Amino acid sequence: MPQPSEPVLPTPAPDAWAHSQRLAQHIADAILAEGEWIAFSRYMELVLYAPGLGYYAAGARKFGVEGDFVTSPEISPMFAKCFALQASQVLKRVGGDVLELGPGSGIFAADLFEMLKEMGTLPERYLLLEVSPDLRERQRVLLTERFPDDIARFTWIDRLPEKIRGIVIANEVLDVVPCSLVHRVDGRYRESGVILAEAGFAFEDQDLQDGELKRRAESAFPLGDYDYLSEVNFAAEALVRTIAATLEAGVAIFVDYGFPEREYYHPQRSMGTLRCHYRHRVHGDPFFMPGLQDITAHVDFSAMARAAEQGGAEVYGFTTQAYFLISCGLAVLVSAGDPTRTLSKLKGTSGAYRLIGPSEMGELFKVLAFGRGIDEPILGFQSARHLQL
Ligand SMILES: C[S@@+](CC[C@H](N)C(=O)[O-])C[C@H]1O[C@@H](n2cnc3c(N)ncnc32)[C@H](O)[C@@H]1O
Repeated sequence: MPQPSEPVLPTPAPDAWAHSQRLAQHIADAILAEGEWIAFSRYMELVLYAPGLGYYAAGARKFGVEGDFVTSPEISPMFAKCFALQASQVLKRVGGDVLELGPGSGIFAADLFEMLKEMGTLPERYLLLEVSPDLRERQRVLLTERFPDDIARFTWIDRLPEKIRGIVIANEVLDVVPCSLVHRVDGRYRESGVILAEAGFAFEDQDLQDGELKRRAESAFPLGDYDYLSEVNFAAEALVRTIAATLEAGVAIFVDYGFPEREYYHPQRSMGTLRCHYRHRVHGDPFFMPGLQDITAHVDFSAMARAAEQGGAEVYGFTTQAYFLISCGLAVLVSAGDPTRTLSKLKGTSGAYRLIGPSEMGELFKVLAFGRGIDEPILGFQSARHLQL
């Protein structure tokens, strides 16, 4: 439930409210049909991805000033340009495609493609794996406008290809993959799930049976004498493992907010990392207006690196977003351009600062790269400080 110190959330418009009610009814039906209790991961799957209703599957504006949150590619084109330099290195080495997971508004694809075109290292295809039909349409409109002559190079796909050669990029995707919530309480492990209560949805814990989830909780946060709540994201690990197994040559790069395991499951982080984003307010109530807000959890990058290795890939590096972008050449990109255009240059500098500033996105956001068949240092890690996983 929202804590007294949490922000007051704006009231939605009547049509948005009605949409939320439809999704809430859909989730309530699922709870009744599935034994009156669903795991939190199931709730998150429905609330974000229920076809036609979930946050990412329906039409509300999510990205940018008028939406709920702002991501790095929306803040500055420098983000995609740095990735273009990185992609160019990989494409020159192994050829193949760019595959972007969760392309959001499409702005990253547009800025990256434009720069690759300028550099003469266009991929064979630009593949976009997008689970939301609505976002797909927005991406198609934007990319058709920006590249009317090259639109045939963009291909939207529903599932991962059987083999991937080239570069895979996912910015802020793992944090919206449904996670399990595990509660260590009164000296035992319980899984937090969702039930129907008088006032709507409510949390209820069930004892965790012996199995993979319990084993992970036991190793991540051993039994202790105070209550502790955290997330485990097997679905995100499965996604990483599959990409690692599918990548025949090239690099996959995942960017997200998160930590290595020892920080993720730090004893003091006893309330987990679940966050909800609604019109630029961040709060902790996942039951507020289902379908109108994003729900995210930070990423345990140690678990993701292990999953990549289980998929047979080599981990090439793990660093902060700031180090990665600077190592790709952010400073050179910012200082380039027409010196007489002072205003646009200042804007460029402040956007770039938001990407790398330690109290902005530079340190909380991390970059993990893994792959196969690259026998030279990866550009984004060449001069970066490697963090311990
Ligand atoms: C927070 S948005 C980030 C969008 C964009 N990458 C950006 O940085 O602006 C998350 C995106 O991931 C997508 N997504 C969620 N699960 C996915 C999955 N399993 N595979 C591919 N995309 C997924 C969502 O539909 C959404 O487009």
